[in-house]
Amino acid sequence: MKTYKEFYTLIEQRIAAFSFDGNPPELYNPLAYMLSLGGKRLRPVLVLMANDIFGGDTEKAVSAALAVEVFHNFTLVHDDIMDKADIRRGMPTVHKKWNETVGILSGDLMMIKATQLLCETDTSRLKDLLGIFNTTAVEVCEGQQIDMNFESRSDVSVDEYIQMITLKTAVLLGGSLKLGALVADASLENANHMYDFGKNIGIAFQIQDDLLDSFGEGDKIGKKIGGDIAANKKTLLLINAFEKADTLTRQEMEQLMHNTTVTEQQKIDGILAIYNKLNVKDEANKLKEEYLKRAFAHLEKVEVEIDRKEVLKNTALDLMERMS
Ligand code: IPE
Ligand code: IPE
Ligand code: MG
Ligand code: MG
Ligand code: MG
Repeated sequence: MKTYKEFYTLIEQRIAAFSFDGNPPELYNPLAYMLSLGGKRLRPVLVLMANDIFGGDTEKAVSAALAVEVFHNFTLVHDDIMDKADIRRGMPTVHKKWNETVGILSGDLMMIKATQLLCETDTSRLKDLLGIFNTTAVEVCEGQQIDMNFESRSDVSVDEYIQMITLKTAVLLGGSLKLGALVADASLENANHMYDFGKNIGIAFQIQDDLLDSFGEGDKIGKKIGGDIAANKKTLLLINAFEKADTLTRQEMEQLMHNTTVTEQQKIDGILAIYNKLNVKDEANKLKEEYLKRAFAHLEKVEVEIDRKEVLKNTALDLMERMS
């Protein structure tokens, strides 16, 4: 079995070999820029790992792996416009380096390039792959819109939050694993357990992402700390804080979030102080662990030797400790 590092290196090599030249450069350069900024390459690695554990030929799964990475980068370009984020992977976001129209259109191009790459997969199950990819892409859009809708709501429940992050983030991890499994000709039952493993890991992964947004170190995560708080994102931390707060603290939160005389930094510092006072971090970690357990229960049901699944288990455990 190959390791995360080995698959990661392969993906990096293939991305470096891409040619993104084209006219007009404002359309093509952001694609090259985004993909050169790195990141964990988690989703393509998952495609290759899933393919590998079912004995698939890695070479056959590479274009599907690249497809999901290009798709992921497209969602990030548009997400950064929607979230008004200036920094991504420690560098200026596409709409900051160029402008918003460039971000929108080069994002669209990435989406198209992603399907082109997927179509290059050498498999008799291409129709199934396209079906999974398209369903996942639609769900990511739904999740992103729900995330935006939540910014102006203050009564979002934990269940609604889980549903939202399942769509915006988790289904793509599940979809990546399912794609890899199908390229290796796994049974539908096994491929579906892989999907559910990935989906539950994805929920835990987004909870961790929310934790890092508030409690991470800026230079490690490559994004601005407190971006979620600034945008009134209904993260698990905020929802739990609202639930645990007494009347006075709740009023203070409302003030910090909606009073226009409060500066962005005052808002971030004030809400963070309340998070610390109410210990909401612990609860988020507990829920993260619960989804990790659910994920492992699905991995156990995948019918391949235990040793072959170890690499996926370790990847999931590492993700829960991730710093970036
Ligand atoms: C960022 O994804 C968006 C989320 C779904 C949280 P990653 O944390 O995988 O971003 P990169 O690709 O490693 O930069
Ligand atoms: C991103 O969620 C989900 C997608 C891009 C689809 P976030 O908005 O939390 O991601 P980051 O924190 O900006 O990477
Ligand atoms: Mg977002
Ligand atoms: Mg964002
Ligand atoms: Mg985030």
